[in-house]
Amino acid sequence: MNIAILGGTGKEGSGLATRWALVGHAIIIGSRDAARAHDKAVELRERTKKLTIVGKANAEAAALGDVVVIALPATGLAATLPPAREACRGKVVVSTVVALSFGGPRLFTPPPAGSSAEEVQALLPEAKVVAAFHHIAAHELAEAEHDIDSDLLMCGADVEAKTVVTELGRSMGLRVIDVGPLSNAGPVEGITALLATINRRYKLKNAGIKITGLPS
Ligand SMILES: NC(=O)c1ccc[n+]([C@@H]2O[C@H](COP(=O)([O-])OP(=O)(O)OC[C@H]3O[C@@H](n4cnc5c(N)ncnc54)[C@H](OP(=O)(O)O)[C@@H]3O)[C@@H](O)[C@H]2O)c1
Repeated sequence: MNIAILGGTGKEGSGLATRWALVGHAIIIGSRDAARAHDKAVELRERTKKLTIVGKANAEAAALGDVVVIALPATGLAATLPPAREACRGKVVVSTVVALSFGGPRLFTPPPAGSSAEEVQALLPEAKVVAAFHHIAAHELAEAEHDIDSDLLMCGADVEAKTVVTELGRSMGLRVIDVGPLSNAGPVEGITALLATINRRYKLKNAGIKITGLPS
């Protein structure tokens, strides 16, 4: 599968790219700057020994992806997504976005839309948006020789899109749990703020989340 990652030069997008490249997906790293995307693609090709990673400007990356992953800061959505709207029409779009602001009075402020994923859906109305991967930290993704000790919570409206995201999560060894419609993305995104706080409080790097009570 061709996976475009908007903001793929960053920590989370690069980590996702690494994991998916290693299991055989083709990756298009997106950036505001095509040269920066190219440089990151070269770096990731060297790291993974996989040649199927290229870098493009964000909108061009979106056009090349079968699936488009949004790995941007929440503050970058309004400027970045409208030029990619046509390229995302009808596609599965995965939002990893969490509106975190470190160093201020509040770590997490839910966006007016209820969640960043719903903001993505409003900006890309013809896309099939699924919220996922918020609880999988970038450094865990980057250390690709290690298993990731967390469930993957996923929500969205489109059943087939959730099937695609389930396969993408399983391909990196995660148990994927469907937590319902996209209107649940706010609570899902908020858990990331709790995990970041737990990491800081207990001097960890790898707090994750697991749901009990499900049949194995
Ligand atoms: N880091 C984690 O462990 C983690 C875990 C779970 C979820 N997330 C979420 O995933 C998203 C990405 O996280 P990250 O840590 O990878 O972020 P990041 O490194 O700060 O940013 C990712 C990329 O976004 C682009 N960008 C930065 N500011 C922008 C702006 N104003 N407008 C458009 N593009 C901009 C940059 O790429 P260019 O300069 O190349 O365009 C940057 O490399 C965030 O929403 C975050 O909350 C992160």
